[in-house]
Amino acid sequence: MSRITINPNEKKSTISRNLYGNFSEHLGRCIYNGLFVGKDSPIPNVNGMRTDVVEALKNIRLPVLRWPGGCFADEYHWKDGIGPQEGRKRMVNTHWGGVVEDNSFGTHEFLEFCRQVGCEPYINGNLGSGTVQEMSEWVEYMTFDGISPMAQLRAENGQEKPWKIKYFGVGNENWGCGGNMRPEYYADEFRRYQTYLRNYGGNRLYKIACGPNNDDYTWTDTVMKIAAPYMDGLSFHYYTVIGPDWDHKGSALHFSREEYYRTLFKALKIDEYIENHSKIMDRYDPEKRVGLIVDEWGTWFDVEPGTNPGFLYQQNTMRDALVAAASLNIFNRHSDRVAMANIAQMVNVLQAVLLTEGDKLVKTPTYHVFDLYREHHDATLVYSHVETGTIGAGKEEVPQISASVSVNEEGVLHATLANLSDTDGEEVELLFAGFTPAAAEGRVLAGKCSDFNDFDHPDTVQIHKLEGIRVQDGRVFVSMPACSVAELTIR
Ligand code: AHR
Repeated sequence: MSRITINPNEKKSTISRNLYGNFSEHLGRCIYNGLFVGKDSPIPNVNGMRTDVVEALKNIRLPVLRWPGGCFADEYHWKDGIGPQEGRKRMVNTHWGGVVEDNSFGTHEFLEFCRQVGCEPYINGNLGSGTVQEMSEWVEYMTFDGISPMAQLRAENGQEKPWKIKYFGVGNENWGCGGNMRPEYYADEFRRYQTYLRNYGGNRLYKIACGPNNDDYTWTDTVMKIAAPYMDGLSFHYYTVIGPDWDHKGSALHFSREEYYRTLFKALKIDEYIENHSKIMDRYDPEKRVGLIVDEWGTWFDVEPGTNPGFLYQQNTMRDALVAAASLNIFNRHSDRVAMANIAQMVNVLQAVLLTEGDKLVKTPTYHVFDLYREHHDATLVYSHVETGTIGAGKEEVPQISASVSVNEEGVLHATLANLSDTDGEEVELLFAGFTPAAAEGRVLAGKCSDFNDFDHPDTVQIHKLEGIRVQDGRVFVSMPACSVAELTIR
């Protein structure tokens, strides 16, 4: 039996809904075929955006979407993607598969997609190969309300009124694909570029600096030391990679017990990394004004056999669902510092929430986790402590139960639990301080750890009602099946 002690009166930070964001890059079939098919496609669409994808994202209340990259962002020149479609420049996407990028999906299309979904745009500017002028003009183009060269160009392209843009990234992975910079150099560049990203009219930018990868604490320390007062957010990237090198990352679908537990063990490392980066940020920003923006996270396996290696297309199993569930519990628990997180990536790339093939759509097990966790959006994290055993196969062991708990404005508690065991169900007792539960209900996602959805069997893994919840003597008792994720609503 595992035990979770909860004190709803010990309120902690607000869990920003933006922890449940997604990332979409011009990579493989994420944008083209994934979310954008063009107005003339036989696939049902509104202004070129896939209706099935838009509806699925509305269901999980997608709060924020990052675009256009990733590594692509530091090679992207936004002026190539505006104006009449016929006139748009064609270029080679050198990072991802060497395919032709026809720029038919650009600024107007991205912002139209966000409008349809009802999410906030998060735009990542090009610092690596662009100019200060180019980045500055992009912000002017999107947000200036009045007479200016960029506002006029925007109007000529059919958008009279400016958009509201809050989240703006100043470069991506500038320690690597974004220019191979040293942290000192990047920090100075960030200070220079951000100077010219103006707040026009009522628009207020939230400027995000390029942060570290994994445990690169030197990067965090240096960039915070030099540039903290100039930024609102610092990005952080962490991928769960289990292979010995990038050419042998293991299969998304076929894995041993050892690989299963190694995946979870590696995924949980993000807790330690967030903790340590936050401590460094505390030195320069004790008020926690600067948000840690986990704008790329998730599993990264070998591509599916027969697919373009540059397209990063991988299937998605219950193992991925558990990675998502445990990671999101970690983000909730660090919501005093983590202000946004964006899983990589939204459609058809890496740990995707959706997969498409022609006119077909599959909701992955990871998608269903975002569905189960949506009540945490903007709720308040409350104290919870998990007592549970450790499990594993081989050297890498993990705690069996992962959890986080929030309370909403009506005083309703939502607890999200994951049982990481591949073989054993677990009884979980929830104990409360200063609160007596009257009723509890739940939804659960469960299956074998290798279960997945595909185009012929889209509902192998789906959410069910969680049966057998008991409220007794001021406690709640639940039976978590092996390899499962649940959401409990407790009143
Ligand atoms: O998500 C794929 C790539 O991973 C991104 O383009 C890059 O930022 C990261 O290295």
